[in-house]
Amino acid sequence: MDMTTTLIDHTFRKDVRRCFDQQAYALPARWLYDRRGSELFEDITELPEYYPTRTETKLLRDHSADFANAIGKGRAVIEFGSGSSTKTPHLLRAVEPSAYVPIDISGEFLEHSAAMLQDDFPDLPIHPVEADFMKRVELPDAVADLPKLGFFPGSTIGNMIARTSVDLLRFMRETLGIGAQLLIGLDRVKEQQVLIDAYDDSAGVTAQFSLNLLDRINRELDGDIPVDKFRHVAIWNDDYARIEIYLEVQDDVSFSIDGTKHNLISGQRIHIENSHKFGLRDARLMLRAGGWTPLCDWSDERDYFTLILAEAHPYKHAP
Ligand code: TRP
Repeated sequence: MDMTTTLIDHTFRKDVRRCFDQQAYALPARWLYDRRGSELFEDITELPEYYPTRTETKLLRDHSADFANAIGKGRAVIEFGSGSSTKTPHLLRAVEPSAYVPIDISGEFLEHSAAMLQDDFPDLPIHPVEADFMKRVELPDAVADLPKLGFFPGSTIGNMIARTSVDLLRFMRETLGIGAQLLIGLDRVKEQQVLIDAYDDSAGVTAQFSLNLLDRINRELDGDIPVDKFRHVAIWNDDYARIEIYLEVQDDVSFSIDGTKHNLISGQRIHIENSHKFGLRDARLMLRAGGWTPLCDWSDERDYFTLILAEAHPYKHAP
């Protein structure tokens, strides 16, 4: 077992313990993405109800001429949480970057997707960085003097609470520097049923994805949680403008994890994800709070999803 695995193992154990021992009944969403979870999420992106991936990809494809105009050519593209980098080729073709820096916490994923991308862009210098982008990231020397474009697709910022999302935007500003641009994807507030269906599909793939977290605890932390007693719950919280995902137990249950016994009473929910949705003005306020000045935006014809281009300007005195 290598260092990374041990470290992940240790934090997973700690988070699961906090969830049940201290009755927090919340687990960080990152633990959804083990191998099985990542596969299931890929399946989610292809569901008829799950519009975000499809809509954003189409925006990236349709607006390449606009990106070339607003962004120009020759910047270094820095992608935050690049994962499998599936949306990246559309952007790279549009802005003809001088370099590409994918940042991801999973080194294994990173090397693989960098190699795949290199096949399609043989002349592009690619510098993968294995790092947690929730902090300031040290960029490779090779891109230090290049103008930069940050790329943060997938409405991933929507998975953070407001305070954390603004912290992240500020770290990005520090990482990229004054004069940098940021292209960010944001999922919009829309009709409630459309949102709920996107997080609770009729084929039950999203439910499998959520419940896999309990299977993972059983697999990796020697648990015997009766997974079939839990159900996936997706609700719209209108006050927070977000979808909340829970695992709800249907019966009084007892189980053990890591040799420790736990009891849950019927109806208890475990909170496993938030997915905030944005109005255009909310989005622009959030960007400004994080030190980014919005320049322009692109949305699909239903206003389901928006790409915003912003720039890091020097701070000015406000009245
Ligand atoms: N980042 C994705 C989103 O918020 C993750 C996601 C999609 C998700 N469906 C889910 C997380 C269901 C938990 C449960 O859109």
